[in-house]
Amino acid sequence: MNLDFAQMVPYIPFMLQGIWVTLKFVFFAIILGAILGTLLALCKISHIKILRWLADAYTSVFRGTPLILQLMIIYYAIPQLTGYDIDAFLAAILAFGLNSSAYISEIIRAGIQAVDKGQMEAAHALGIPYRQMMKDIILPQALKNILPALMNEFITLTKESAIVSTIGYLDLMRRAQVVGADLFRNFEPLLFVGVIYWCLVMGLTVIGRMFERRLKKSD
Ligand code: ARG
Repeated sequence: MNLDFAQMVPYIPFMLQGIWVTLKFVFFAIILGAILGTLLALCKISHIKILRWLADAYTSVFRGTPLILQLMIIYYAIPQLTGYDIDAFLAAILAFGLNSSAYISEIIRAGIQAVDKGQMEAAHALGIPYRQMMKDIILPQALKNILPALMNEFITLTKESAIVSTIGYLDLMRRAQVVGADLFRNFEPLLFVGVIYWCLVMGLTVIGRMFERRLKKSD
């Protein structure tokens, strides 16, 4: 067995800094994905055919191509067209946010459609405007049902974030690779960040459970 964790010790602060780097863009990507995903879901259940078509086309493109390809297009290919270089941080938020919104829109659409039809009919009968009905009546009920699926999506996003290492962004994954190359030892740093990813996902899981319990209380 050729393991020596002592050599890794001086690199630990460097790798720990990756937690913040990773969490920062994942956080913004989740926000972007959630907002865009909700709008797309509303388009998907809309009575306007072109909106439905556009939202479906969007989902088909972003769910139908690899995330790593989308990231490369945003980071390398689009600057070739526009002449403007894009920051890796911004490219990461965009790629992950846009990709995730395609998945989130399907989760939310299913959640809205699972809310009892009578709720919408009652809102109509009471003359509640569409916007208010969605915001105050339908979406809150949908949220309760889709929370586990949404948490799943956030967990996927957190782990898939390791893909940004391919554009040289110094996230957790990239830092493990850098340390591995420096030490000529890969097992120790990879194991180290592996444990960190696991802790992050466990943290998300706990937060999700907390929300679920909170929402159940209102039943
Ligand atoms: N590796 C997959 C891909 O390349 C992950 C997509 C992200 N998945 C998600 N639920 N957001 O497309």
